[in-house]
Amino acid sequence: MKKEKNTFDISILCVITGVGMMSLAPSLPVIYPAAIFGVGSYYFIDDFLHKSNKWYKLWDSMGIENKPRLREKINTDYGYCLRFGIPRGMSTDDFEKRKSAIYQYIDCDRLNIKHHQGRNMLLEVYENRLKTQYDYYDDLDVGGKLEIPIGYTYGESLVTIDLEEAVHILIAGETDSGKSTLLRAILTYILTRLDIKLYLCDLKFGGTELRIFVNHPNVKEFITNKEDAIKLLTRVEREVRDRGDKISKAGCNDIYKYNRENPKNKLKHEIVVIDEMAILRGKNTKDSIETLEILATQARSTGIHLLLATQRPSKTEKVITGQIKANIPTKIGLRVDEALDSRMIIDSDGLEQLRGNGHGILKLKGKKTEFQGFYLDYAQAQRLINQSANKIKNKKRKVVKNDTSKVMANKLTKEEYEQLDFSKPSKKKDDNKSIIRKIF
Ligand SMILES: Nc1ncnc2c1ncn2[C@@H]1O[C@H](COP(=O)(O)OP(=O)(O)OP(=O)(O)O)[C@@H](O)[C@H]1O
Ligand SMILES: [Mg+2]
Repeated sequence: MKKEKNTFDISILCVITGVGMMSLAPSLPVIYPAAIFGVGSYYFIDDFLHKSNKWYKLWDSMGIENKPRLREKINTDYGYCLRFGIPRGMSTDDFEKRKSAIYQYIDCDRLNIKHHQGRNMLLEVYENRLKTQYDYYDDLDVGGKLEIPIGYTYGESLVTIDLEEAVHILIAGETDSGKSTLLRAILTYILTRLDIKLYLCDLKFGGTELRIFVNHPNVKEFITNKEDAIKLLTRVEREVRDRGDKISKAGCNDIYKYNRENPKNKLKHEIVVIDEMAILRGKNTKDSIETLEILATQARSTGIHLLLATQRPSKTEKVITGQIKANIPTKIGLRVDEALDSRMIIDSDGLEQLRGNGHGILKLKGKKTEFQGFYLDYAQAQRLINQSANKIKNKKRKVVKNDTSKVMANKLTKEEYEQLDFSKPSKKKDDNKSIIRKIF
């Protein structure tokens, strides 16, 4: 490897030139040698700092001749990030190969080595640890009409997904990584806080995971087998078309504009949830995957969203086709075995390094956020769902009562209204009956 000219050489060169100029041309203004001395001193100090840096010693101990130069240190919520200039003839792979030595040297929880803008390398040092568990709490409320909280970052800021921006969501990770637990927290939040209807397809073990949501009034359908799921997708596709026609006939281009212009006749957002979408594979795979592709591309403007969970979106299994992937802008990757799986889910390495259940990376419009997902156990979710379902049912009952009084107020005369006091016996035997008939 060709040795690069280092700053120490440059500083020596400057000093020699400065001294040479002063002795050979003493008539020259003193400013010239002074400037050259200045440059020399700058490089001398820079070289001194570089060599006294702890990283220099590490590169030296690894036998790297041209040592990467530390350009900047950025403090982050996970620890810090160092930007090094990569010497000519080296690449990030050379450091990747020596990763275990770097680990030993800095004793951190995790280390990412990334290429950055050509000749720079980023060394992300994870000093802080995510808590292994963040319990979902009852009064979690982020305020947005379509915004859903999913967990916390290293810096303990809340991570949320706005459905308007996220459109469709894919959750993927190996078995036991925490997909169903995250889905449970997301669905509980949606059903208890937001006005969104759900179609639930729980295709694993006959619907054991999502059964707790079944009796909630905002759950439109609950499906536990592949055949019914395929039929549902066809029905939803039809609904997407109908909504599309309605929206375009009203001169709008999406549900948001339509709802703004038709406040009394708003279309509700709906989510098709499929836990373990790999089960859709099989005899009718082509049809169902094609329908999903259509939904992924066309449903965004009509307010129908997809929330899909799968173990490994392997290319060979043709579950997540290129088209579905391209049209699902939001990916939540949980722990996977290999970097290859990580690349399939979030288009980069990283998921194979995650530790613990519920630990994930949210990729939304190219931006990645590492987080620990909410933990919500089955019993607590059930309690919250029952509470919310009862609340909605009671509200509906009250609305029916109020509607009756409106009918009475609008349609009955004062005299007729007074006769409704059933404690007073009516003069005519059938009077009350006829009034009741008039109300309902
Ligand atoms: N956010 C979390 N915090 C703490 N523990 C979690 C979290 N998520 C999941 N777990 C733990 O991991 C276990 C597995 O989670 P879960 O069943 O959600 O995984 P999964 O990815 O759906 O697995 P499978 O692919 O087999 O269905 C849970 O029983 C729970 O104990
Ligand atoms: Mg699961």
